[in-house]
Amino acid sequence: MFEELLRRWDGEHAVVSYDAPSGTWMLVCIHSTKLGPAMGGTRMQVYAEPAEALEDGLRLAGGMTRKLAVVGLPCGGGKAVLAVPELPSGDERRRLLERYAELIDSLGGTFVTGPDVNTGEADMDVIGARTPHVFCRSVGNGGSGDPSIHTALGVFHGIRASLGRVFGSDDPAGRTVLVQGAGSVGAKLSGLLAETGANVLVSDVDEERARATGATTVAPEAALEAECDVYAPCALGATLSAESIPRLRCRIVAGAANNQLAEPEDGERLRAAGILYAPDYVINSGGALHGIGLERLGWDPERLEQEVAGIGDTLERVYTESEAEGIPTHEAAERLAAARLRR
Ligand code: PHE
Repeated sequence: MFEELLRRWDGEHAVVSYDAPSGTWMLVCIHSTKLGPAMGGTRMQVYAEPAEALEDGLRLAGGMTRKLAVVGLPCGGGKAVLAVPELPSGDERRRLLERYAELIDSLGGTFVTGPDVNTGEADMDVIGARTPHVFCRSVGNGGSGDPSIHTALGVFHGIRASLGRVFGSDDPAGRTVLVQGAGSVGAKLSGLLAETGANVLVSDVDEERARATGATTVAPEAALEAECDVYAPCALGATLSAESIPRLRCRIVAGAANNQLAEPEDGERLRAAGILYAPDYVINSGGALHGIGLERLGWDPERLEQEVAGIGDTLERVYTESEAEGIPTHEAAERLAAARLRR
């Protein structure tokens, strides 16, 4: 399985390390260093098979290359997956992250990591004690802190741009948005939308977490079919598939999750269904802009705000290209990224 996945992959190289003390597969996927060192988050997750973890990592790494290229940052793309037997805490977690930090350090800066699903500021602090190649340590430790507010803000700007395209007005007031996943990004997005007068529906497998947002909650199994203007997937990826797309009752899909399309053809399926799709790696680039911009490119908070607002403009370009060429939006985004990568 590993052989087949690696043979088919279009990336540069993957480092596979089995951490015996914890039973964790550490998979660092360096997709491209064409525009600069590869950057991408470290995801910690339980998988049924190590091959599934590698597949996820390889795919997410390619998404990072396109994400950073499309928003115009001088960085390559990568991703790391820590495929754990169960999510560790306390000392066990710290020791695992320390061993992982040594692995990152051994790559000499060709891969620089940050937080992702199930990892956060405190984890970056642990990693940062052993290697400088990490973003988003806590502010007290010299990092830029939790990036999730900027991921959420970028999605918010992306939703506005998408509303403008479909309805002729980008004002979220009175629009219904379903936020699926009330994690660090989803909860903040729901707050930003509620402030502007949108009608926010929130769904989460953890119903308590959904209720805590203060929005109207929707049962997880009803989320996909909820009638709304915007469906915003902010949980784990691949919710858009041949099976799910016919059930959607929205005009726009615009959310923070990575890898939203189960397969590339789903982009065309959405287009054929008359649903505008905001390509995931474009609309969710705010977190990367936060870490990389503040810590590597010397941006001040004002510049960061401008760049995050620019996610809306990048999406406009994607939509214009998609219309002009008669191609699905994810393909238009890919073309923009490819044009930057060719230079
Ligand atoms: N989780 C972020 C993303 O997918 C990863 C990231 C954060 C990368 C911070 C770099 C810096 O975009």
